[in-house]
Amino acid sequence: MSSKPALTSYQLGNTELKNRIVMAPMTRSRALNNIPNDLMAEYYAQRASAGLIITEGTSPSPNGLGYARIPGIFSAGQVAGWKKVTEAVHKNDGKIFVQLMHTGRVSHSLNLPEGATVLAPSAVALPGQTWTDQQSMQAYTPALAMTSEQLVEAKREFVQAAKNAIEAGFDGIELHAANGYLLEQFLSPHTNQRTDLYGGGVENRARFVLEVVKEVSDAIGSGKTAIRLSPFGTNNDIRNYPGVDVMYGYLAEELNKLNIAYIHINDQSTGNKPEVINLVKESIRKKFSNTVMISGGHTLMSAEEAIRSGVADLVSFGRPFITNPDLVNRFHKNLPLNIKLDSGTLYSPDAKGYTDYPVFEEELLSA
Ligand SMILES: Cc1cc2nc3c(=O)[nH]c(=O)nc-3n(C[C@H](O)[C@H](O)[C@H](O)COP(=O)(O)O)c2cc1C
Repeated sequence: MSSKPALTSYQLGNTELKNRIVMAPMTRSRALNNIPNDLMAEYYAQRASAGLIITEGTSPSPNGLGYARIPGIFSAGQVAGWKKVTEAVHKNDGKIFVQLMHTGRVSHSLNLPEGATVLAPSAVALPGQTWTDQQSMQAYTPALAMTSEQLVEAKREFVQAAKNAIEAGFDGIELHAANGYLLEQFLSPHTNQRTDLYGGGVENRARFVLEVVKEVSDAIGSGKTAIRLSPFGTNNDIRNYPGVDVMYGYLAEELNKLNIAYIHINDQSTGNKPEVINLVKESIRKKFSNTVMISGGHTLMSAEEAIRSGVADLVSFGRPFITNPDLVNRFHKNLPLNIKLDSGTLYSPDAKGYTDYPVFEEELLSA
């Protein structure tokens, strides 16, 4: 057994992890026509030394495909594509959850398939621009406020996507309720100005998220259901509001009742955003008995410290996994990390800057 606690095994819900280092979800925009492919299978298989991989944000609905070339998991072709990914990761002894991300108002209609609509809790436009393959940068498409029927339909889509994920061989699913996408758009009073049961006070604004969690968990099992939150995050024009701590305390209590596998807390402060107040992290830890995962700017040392002190059970790494496909092997052997991230190829469509980052031995040979 390793003397480094982060490199010891861990029982996560139904899934046995070989270590506590998780690959954080990262959009990489290689899914041409929104269908996972062989290149993506290769990329994830290269990173299977992680205790757990969480895939890039993947849409449960045609309406949630707001960025160019992000994958979906609602059609038969997408499920078949994901099967290649899960098989490749499992073959390399890895475990993999899919992140279900509905982009909501963070979207451009050119990125959506025909017939799909940009929807959000309320018609509050997102300032700024986003990439489209057809017309380069474009202003975000103003979203339409979801009707009651569209709320029901969106929940049904999340549930079906979760079932599809199990059919595709995933070990579980993570609901993306962070970083300003649809689920967080319900939590925040700026983006949720509804006057029905899904808007207003904390309980009403949390209702859609908790109903999605419950229905997904009933469909695939609570041990395979997880969620990502970003308290105090301001990505995609989420604005801080009085009572953020009350919202996340309430969510932690309710999620605890639902007995889901983990809460993944994303601290956006590495992206120059306000720091997640430690008190909120502590309060989630106190109120939620199952696994807590933390994310944002970690090193092996900070991960060890968080696990040793009981702040978290698992720690996820984003950018280090892009540039070090063999990240966990490097941690095992105390090898230096490659920190040269090519930002120009983060979201480009091909293998360059995706599957061609070297493992340590290749790096030595080319030096
Ligand atoms: C290229 C890129 C794409 C990302 N896409 C997602 C995503 O699809 N879903 C998500 O929850 N977070 C996403 N993130 C945030 C990461 O999961 C992570 O929280 C962030 O990179 C901070 O961790 P790090 O400091 O270890 O990189 C993305 C980050 C990067 C760098």
